[in-house]
Amino acid sequence: MSKTFDVVVIGGGPGGYIAAIRAAQLGLNTACIDDWKNAKGGPAPGGTCTNVGCIPSKALLQSSEHFEHAGHAFAEHGIGLEKLSIDVPKMLARKDQVVKQNNDGILYLFKKNKVTFFHGRGSFVKAAEGGYEIAVAGDKPETLQAKQVIVATGSSARALPGAAFDEQQILSNDGALRVGAVPKTLGVVGSGVIGLEMGSVWRRLGAQVTVLEALPTFLGAVDEQIAKEAHKVFTKQGLKIHLGVKINEVKAGKKGVSVAYTDASGAAQTLDCDKLIVSIGRVPNTTGLNAEAVGLKLDERGFIAVDDDCRSNLAGVWAVGDVVRGPMLAHKAEEEGVAVAERIAGQHGHVNFNTIPWVIYTSPEIAWVGQTEQQLKASGRAYRVGTFPFMANGRARALGDTTGMVKMLADAATDEILGVHVIGPMASELIAEAVVAMEFKASSEDIARICHAHPSLSEATKEAALAVDKRTLNF
Ligand code: FAD
Ligand code: NAI
Repeated sequence: MSKTFDVVVIGGGPGGYIAAIRAAQLGLNTACIDDWKNAKGGPAPGGTCTNVGCIPSKALLQSSEHFEHAGHAFAEHGIGLEKLSIDVPKMLARKDQVVKQNNDGILYLFKKNKVTFFHGRGSFVKAAEGGYEIAVAGDKPETLQAKQVIVATGSSARALPGAAFDEQQILSNDGALRVGAVPKTLGVVGSGVIGLEMGSVWRRLGAQVTVLEALPTFLGAVDEQIAKEAHKVFTKQGLKIHLGVKINEVKAGKKGVSVAYTDASGAAQTLDCDKLIVSIGRVPNTTGLNAEAVGLKLDERGFIAVDDDCRSNLAGVWAVGDVVRGPMLAHKAEEEGVAVAERIAGQHGHVNFNTIPWVIYTSPEIAWVGQTEQQLKASGRAYRVGTFPFMANGRARALGDTTGMVKMLADAATDEILGVHVIGPMASELIAEAVVAMEFKASSEDIARICHAHPSLSEATKEAALAVDKRTLNF
């Protein structure tokens, strides 16, 4: 017997589960299909983000940061510790518990909002009258009729050619979150967001970490001044970063992994390590969707082709999150999910792609919104810049964490804020003020005139705004 829904969402990551909740809130009879299984084979909604992405990586970043603080920072506070140790299985069990709380939270939210959840793999069967027929393959196969379909199937790690993930030695983000003991040596291919975050986790716990990056520049998408500072700090922390390399061959053997590569000078090199994390970007998940059955169009890179409003080439089929163009970020997926649900309900959902914040949860954290200085230069826009170092911020001194700065870029003529870039403590939280400011088209003077609590890190944002007009008070 088939079940009929106004909206069927395929994929229960942040794009899909949030879209389903919003659609249900708007009175639409909504189902969400997700195939992720927990260790017991049960449902684990939340997608990459909850199971092997944002949430577990931040849990391990927190644990490893505590360990590093205990080992290095506590002493200057007069706190003495003897025989510091790390129980990796316990740390991983805590991380798994944090993941489970999030999985359970989503199942609760589905119930609360009356979203019907199906655990299994969703695929298109055919276009049916007034919509689409969707099959659910799993323990309890089902056939659903959907008036509207939202595809939110996410992405998976891209492997290096000839070096498939075995998750024991050659690790994707999944295996990188499950390493059972601190490796003595860890190789990382790709100095992007995952490479730096996961490399930081295992470095803090004692691994010698070497990062091999293909591009000649470090963190090319980040404001150059911030990226330079990050490179300096990470190198000082002990990350060995080699830029401009070409990976030639990866061999996994009993003793570890051997990576043959050509370095930036053209010399042949070999990196031998116990484990290798490969973090060279992600590919959209569309296999198994049976997109061909209904003629759903993919773009040349395999993403579902959508317009700015997440409409596919088919009436009533939408796609959001990592499976479509744009940054692969959980909050971008969520915003798209909400906007699509609202459009289906006849409202005017909107996502402002210019004010999507980015955060890299290393220590120091790196966060930004809007344009970088190099982008402004390239576009020929006249701008003014203000920077303020955390070294001159009282709260940062009290925290014992004075690395980095806040940098603000504003239009030279109108003073509208065009970009804010932070490297330093709690950058992930500080960036929210900049996002609000840019959403409201604030000028740097607006931020400079707003009262910020003292002592707080946010005063560095105010001072960076003052610096745009060359009138910092504390530097
Ligand atoms: P996903 O989260 O990938 O969810 C898709 C879901 O659909 C999955 O459960 C998948 O199994 C399921 N699915 C796929 N095909 C089918 C099918 N045919 N039928 C049923 N179900 C299906 N982003 C941030 O913003 N902040 C971070 O701190 C952050 N950290 C990250 C750390 C790591 C290690 C990784 C890998 C990613 C991180 N990301 C982070 C990125 C973030 O996880 C993704 O952008 C986000 O999960 C995308 O959401 P989504 O809903 O599009 O897809
Ligand atoms: P990434 O795109 O951030 O970085 C990949 C890096 O690998 C790039 O620097 C690229 O030049 C390099 N590279 C590509 N091919 C290579 C090769 N053959 N040899 C050496 N280097 C190579 O991708 P990553 O780190 O895999 O993360 C995927 C996505 O997940 C990110 O783009 C981000 O959207 C998301 N994510 C977000 C996080 C956050 O918001 N804090 C945390 C982790 C992931």
